[in-house]
This record gives sequence, C-alpha cells and structure tokens, in this order.
Amino acid sequence: MSIAASLKQQPQNETERADWWRGAVIYQIYPRSFADSNGDGIGDLNGITRHLDHVADLAADAIWVSPFFTSPMRDFGYDISDFRGVDPIFGTIADFDALVERAHALGLKLMIDQVWSHSSNQHPWFEESRQSRDNARADWYVWHDPKPDGSPPNNWQSVFGGPAWTWDARRGQYYLHNFLAEQPDLNLHNPDVQAAILDVARFWFARGVDGFRIDALNYTMHDLELRDNPPMPEDGKPRTRPYDFQLKQFNQGHEGIARFLERVRGVADEFGATFTLAEVGGDFAETQMKEFTADDKRLNSAYGFDFLYADKLTPQTVCKALAGWPGGDGEGWPSWAFENHDAPRAVSRWADPEHREAFLRMKAMLLLSLRGNSILFQGEELGLTQVDIPFDKLQDPEAIANWPLTLSRDGVRTPMPWQATHEGLGFSTGEPWLPTGPDHAALAVDRQAGDPESILNWTKRMIALRKAQPALREGTLHDCRADGSVLTFERRQDGQRLLCLFNLAAERAAFALPDGARIIAATGTHEPNLAPYAALIAQLES
Ligand code: BGC
Repeated sequence: MSIAASLKQQPQNETERADWWRGAVIYQIYPRSFADSNGDGIGDLNGITRHLDHVADLAADAIWVSPFFTSPMRDFGYDISDFRGVDPIFGTIADFDALVERAHALGLKLMIDQVWSHSSNQHPWFEESRQSRDNARADWYVWHDPKPDGSPPNNWQSVFGGPAWTWDARRGQYYLHNFLAEQPDLNLHNPDVQAAILDVARFWFARGVDGFRIDALNYTMHDLELRDNPPMPEDGKPRTRPYDFQLKQFNQGHEGIARFLERVRGVADEFGATFTLAEVGGDFAETQMKEFTADDKRLNSAYGFDFLYADKLTPQTVCKALAGWPGGDGEGWPSWAFENHDAPRAVSRWADPEHREAFLRMKAMLLLSLRGNSILFQGEELGLTQVDIPFDKLQDPEAIANWPLTLSRDGVRTPMPWQATHEGLGFSTGEPWLPTGPDHAALAVDRQAGDPESILNWTKRMIALRKAQPALREGTLHDCRADGSVLTFERRQDGQRLLCLFNLAAERAAFALPDGARIIAATGTHEPNLAPYAALIAQLES
C-alpha cells in the first residue's frame, strides 16, 4: 500500500467530519486548460500542482479534476482507454501522487472524474469484446443484432448527433454508444463489469483521492428490452439533433443503477471520509438524482442541468431548482453549478456587457447562498466570458458536428489567464491548444489579485462569508419567492435566520427589508430601490 493510501484510511485530522463535503465549495479544474508546465500548449498535472495555491487562496474546500486518464482524446479525456493510467499529455502517475500530496498539504480535498458509462473504443476491454460473440468480454459492452432489414435495433439517438448504434462487421452486430461512436457503452448490467468498475474506484481511493464526480451516471444502464424511446412532446425548445426529438425514457435511467450505487457506496465507505457526486442530465433528471442519492446508502450528492444551459436566470428557475430538494427524510444533498466545461459561460448567457460587473457580484453571492454544494468552474472566479472560437479552430467534436447551432464547448474551455502581459497569458510558453479570450488579459489572475474591488476578491469574500455563516453553508431553506425580478429566500440554522435577496434584472426593482433586518453583505445600491443586479444578505430577528 502506498503512503497516500495508508494516510487515506485515517481522517486527516482528529476533528475532521465524515461529511466534510456538506455545503462545500468545489472548484472544477479542466486539466487541458488550467496550466501547462512543459510548453506543449496543453495543460497538465504539474501545471495544476504549481497553481494550486490559487485555489487554496480562494478557500475552496475541494478541487474536482476532470479526466486526465489515458485516452485517444476523441472527447478530450471522456473516452478512456485505461481507467488506471495517466495520459502522457497530462504527466505520470507520480505527478498525480504529487498533486494529491500538494492538495492535502494545502487543506484541499481532491475529487476526480469517473467515467463508468462508457470507455474508449481503444480500451482493451472493447478491443477484446468486438473480436467475437463468445470471447471472455463479449458481453462487457452493449451488442445487439440488427433488425431483419439490417437497420439498428431501435430508435435511440446519441447525444452528439446521429444514431446511438454503430455496426461492427466482425461481430455482425451493432454496439450502443450514447455519445461518440468512439465511446462504446459499457454493459453495467453485467456483474463482471460492475466488479471491474468497483476495482477502478478502489484503485483511486487507495491513491488518496477523496471523492468522485461520476460522469453521465444515468447512462450506465439501459432498458434490456431495448424499447424505442417515445417522441418528445412539443416543448418549444430548439431541436438541433435527432436526440432532441426523443423523450429519453429507455436508453438511460434503468432501476438497476440504484442497486449498483449501493455497491459503489460500500466501496467509498471502505475509505472513510469520501464524497460521491453524480452528474445527471436528461428528461428525468430530478427523479433520478433523488433515486441515486436516497437514504444515505447510495451517492452523497448529485447535480443536474437546471442552470447550465438556461438562457436566462430568473427567480422562477432558482425556486424551481431548490424546490426539488426540500430536505425531507432520506433525501440526498444537492450540488449546483452555473458553469462547467460543457456549458457556455453564465455571464455571457445571462447578462449584457454593460451590466456584467454588477451581475458577476450578484451571481457569486447567489451561487454561494444556495442550499447545497457550490461548484465553481475554473475562471468563473475571474468573471471569464465565453470565447467565440472560429470554425477552423474548433476542437470539440460536438461543436464541430453541430456548428453553428450549438454553443461550442470550446468557448468555455479556453486557457486560464494567469498573467496579463505574458504570451499565452501565463498559461503556456507554447501555442495554446485553444486561443485565449480576447478580453481575458484584463481579467487575468495577476491583474485581479491586488485589487480589493476585483471579482476575484469579491468571490473570495463570498466564499469566506459562506464559511463563516453556518446557515449559508448547511442551513435549511425556506420561502423561496419570486417578486417580479426579485428573488428572495431564507436560510436557517440553529436559530440563525438569513434573508438572501437578489435582483436578477438589469432594471431597478422595489423591495422592503423587514423591520430589524441587519445587512451582513451587499452588492449594488439598495436605497430607495434595488439597483440592477443588486443583492444582499441580511440577518433577521429570530
Ligand atoms: C461530460 C462531457 C462528456 C460526456 C461524455 C459528460 O456529461 O461532462 O464532457 O462529453 O459526459 O462522457
């Protein structure tokens, strides 16, 4: 057992709580774009280690590092060919161990992505599986005969466009892939596959990892009868892919997933104070998130897409999302993200350029006031905007396939700006794999660090506020209300009552503070009316 593994068996200090993650601030790092230590234009593990003090300085509780595993990079690391390996582009397993050690020395928990719904088509498991219908791993992926007319077994469509089935001549069968054809779906109905995946989980926990973000969890098991998905009822949303025309009832969300998660939890519990967080999208996300986190015997938390693709931030969107997690018995704990490596930057979706500064302050206060964990995507603390990547520079297969109809995932994956006046903004001494944002130099870390009024320092203050106020970090949530553009809710804990109030519009709005309320944090003027995007948190008399 490695040193990291033996340390992992014990809490890092005597006073550590097993549920350290409840109310945590989680900082997501997309390794390719965070910091490049060797000048090849692609971020790497050593780059993360060197810049970790930035995250510690923010006082985040944990980092979540997106995939750095061995991969042909067709989906930039979400197509894994060795679940236990580090891709040479990102470094070595020794670099990973050094990252774990540095994170823990800085008091940061370390979470990594786990992709269990699919592997790369270059994974040895798939290479073996596709050889014949009777090899040892023949049933490790989802294979099926064609219909009598040679067409795919059913109507399922892939997220990235086109049918979810690809023909394999050697087996004379189709295989299922909910994402790219290079990402065949693992067959988690097979107990041997479950056992292999649980071994992968043990491998990383034993290396000192504190938690997992589990990718596309509801895709891990499909309907064994392979029933066709029904058409999606007209909902007024844009439809750019065949996938958008279906209600995803049968290709995902099988009831067996919950039972598998009980085994996952058993493994996580072998390693003490661990944290498990599911990514759950799709048409039944709310029900599935509940199912995957129920009764403190499956995962700890889940997050959906309530905010990630919303065109507008409205009080109704917030109250509806929060209402899904009233805090009843046996209910899991929610997590929230406004931005991530798949979704366009929230500031570009939700605010016009003239109001961005005010909007960003309000946004940070809101994210850090929600009941649940707050996930910040790298650069969100700087107020980075979505970058418009021209077609000839696009890298993301989804963006290329659907261009120009989907907002490119590349536009949020641009290099982190560390130093305003350096070539490559301090991200790399080489040519960065994606262009830096034209307005990102002005937002670089070194520009903002020394300015007490910067968004970076505001974000730090909001994180500090959340940590100092138990009601914000862990309290219950009450009375979420929409009054025109004004959103209000209360957070309560041990007799403490905090009123959280946000003007989500670029117009002034009226409001009245209850008698005796004492403001403990505010952004924008609030007298006599709330300025555009003004927000405040006030202590109420209990
Ligand atoms: C990840 C994406 C990835 C997909 C397939 C997700 O939801 O966040 O980046 O392309 O799963 O693995």
